[in-house]
Amino acid sequence: MAEPFDIVVIGAGPGGYTAAIRAAQLGFKTACIDDWSRAGGKPAPGGTCTNVGCIPSKALLQSSENFEHAQHTFGDHGILIKDVAIDVAKMLARKDKVVGQNNDGILYLFKKNKITFLHGRGSFAGKDGDAWKINVEGPSAAEITAKHVIVATGSKPRALPGVAIDNDRVLDNEGALAIPEVPKKLGVVGAGVIGLEMGSVWRRLGSEVTVLEALPTFLGVADEAIAKEALKAFKKQGLDIRTGVTITRVTVKKDGVDVDYTDAAGAAAKVALERLIVSIGRVPHTDGLNAQAVGLALDERGFIAVDGDCKTNLPNVWAIGDVVRGPMLAHKAEDEAVAVAERIAGQHGHVDFNTTPWVIYTSPEIAWVGQNEQQLKAAGVAYRAGTFPFLANGRARAMGDTTGFVKMLADAKTDRILGLHVIGPFASELIAEGVVAMEFGASSEDIARICHAHPSLSEATREAALGVDKRTINI
Ligand code: FAD
Ligand code: NAI
Repeated sequence: MAEPFDIVVIGAGPGGYTAAIRAAQLGFKTACIDDWSRAGGKPAPGGTCTNVGCIPSKALLQSSENFEHAQHTFGDHGILIKDVAIDVAKMLARKDKVVGQNNDGILYLFKKNKITFLHGRGSFAGKDGDAWKINVEGPSAAEITAKHVIVATGSKPRALPGVAIDNDRVLDNEGALAIPEVPKKLGVVGAGVIGLEMGSVWRRLGSEVTVLEALPTFLGVADEAIAKEALKAFKKQGLDIRTGVTITRVTVKKDGVDVDYTDAAGAAAKVALERLIVSIGRVPHTDGLNAQAVGLALDERGFIAVDGDCKTNLPNVWAIGDVVRGPMLAHKAEDEAVAVAERIAGQHGHVDFNTTPWVIYTSPEIAWVGQNEQQLKAAGVAYRAGTFPFLANGRARAMGDTTGFVKMLADAKTDRILGLHVIGPFASELIAEGVVAMEFGASSEDIARICHAHPSLSEATREAALGVDKRTINI
């Protein structure tokens, strides 16, 4: 048998490939196994995020936003374009190219860091003394051993009971990113992150989009004021969002899908669609790991059970990312990856979910970090809030993108920032200031006194901070 590795990582999504790189940087002899393939059989490291998640969805969001601007907002700038049209095949090919560039980038990083990449499915095959035996099936078939194993096998879409995904009429995230032509009527089950992002893409390209959400409230994970503003904006754009529905039947036909449901008032209703996206959450992916045979414990929801340090119940077996508890976000997986590699090296890796930012890449973008007003009220925390609308921000006006606002929440006694909530242009970028501020234990007064460039969107954050003390300048 070949020389043992110090660390084997199973899965090369943002969790797995980041863990492998950090482990190699720390001097460990490292291997990373991943089973994702591109057309033609070439490996496609990067996991859900790179192949059918973050990267392709943002590529399509950008393309569709450009199309929307060309149609509806360029005219305001005096840019007159006639006959704007969308070439869906070209848009999808561009998205695939962007994905391929990211796959190749990860293969390059493996090489650069002298990581052994094995293309195939990894599974536990027992122990050899203190070391774990890992079997690899596929193009790089092998049996390898390692002292430490980091499981980063990610997640897969949750299915609607009794409704098969065919990625033709009924689509999961993979199908939603590859619809070959703009459907006239598109349905989305679940008004969560994927539903809103993918619903926005196809709505901008011309689909009539109906979103069917089980919960009575819209975007309950966000701050209530943010969710209210988002709902207003999405409705204005034409997204038909129906909350409080119960799907009773999905009938797939040759040329469409009928969805029967009961509406919020309990009345029977039906909607006839060309295609239906099902985006009702994701479940941990542990298939084929042979976890049971080696006694790897799962929790009651099927996630690999880990402690606060990402240690499983088995010695020297760690698990990170979507396959364990906590938010299913690429940057959360990456942070756990670095922390685990550093813990194996005897360092003190640290991940704080309270400062993990959330972003929804719709237009307006939505982003938050820390706690929202509902959570603070429920916890009985006394707080002060400051808000500032983009309508009063010079840069937003110049951009012609004035929907939304920034809201800062700070402890009433200590003034420590407890949450930052943004809906509006580049919320995904603005939120970083909130993360830094919270990590440094900043007060709203700190942000209010820091010089922010003019004219910039970040001035809205400073004004929200001033608003905590009721002394905004520009409103
Ligand atoms: P994954 O990325 O799922 O990677 C796991 C890898 O392990 C996969 O390649 C899988 O094939 C492989 N694997 C599984 N089992 C085995 C095995 N036994 N042997 C070998 N390989 C195996 N998050 C964000 O933060 N921002 C976003 O904008 C964002 N957008 C998203 C959009 C969509 C449509 C979706 C679906 C998700 C999005 N996410 C986003 C979530 C993000 O993709 C996940 O949180 C992230 O990919 C989790 O990383 P991971 O490394 O834990 O798992
Ligand atoms: P989600 O958890 O964000 O939303 C699922 C929605 O479906 C919820 O609103 C839920 O109430 C609803 N739902 C559940 N069962 C239903 C049913 N039977 N009928 C109707 N509605 C139902 O999950 P989603 O959108 O599938 O995304 C999965 C995860 O992927 C996200 O939670 C997030 O972690 C990650 N993601 C992150 C992105 C980002 O960071 N920008 C983008 C896309 C996904």
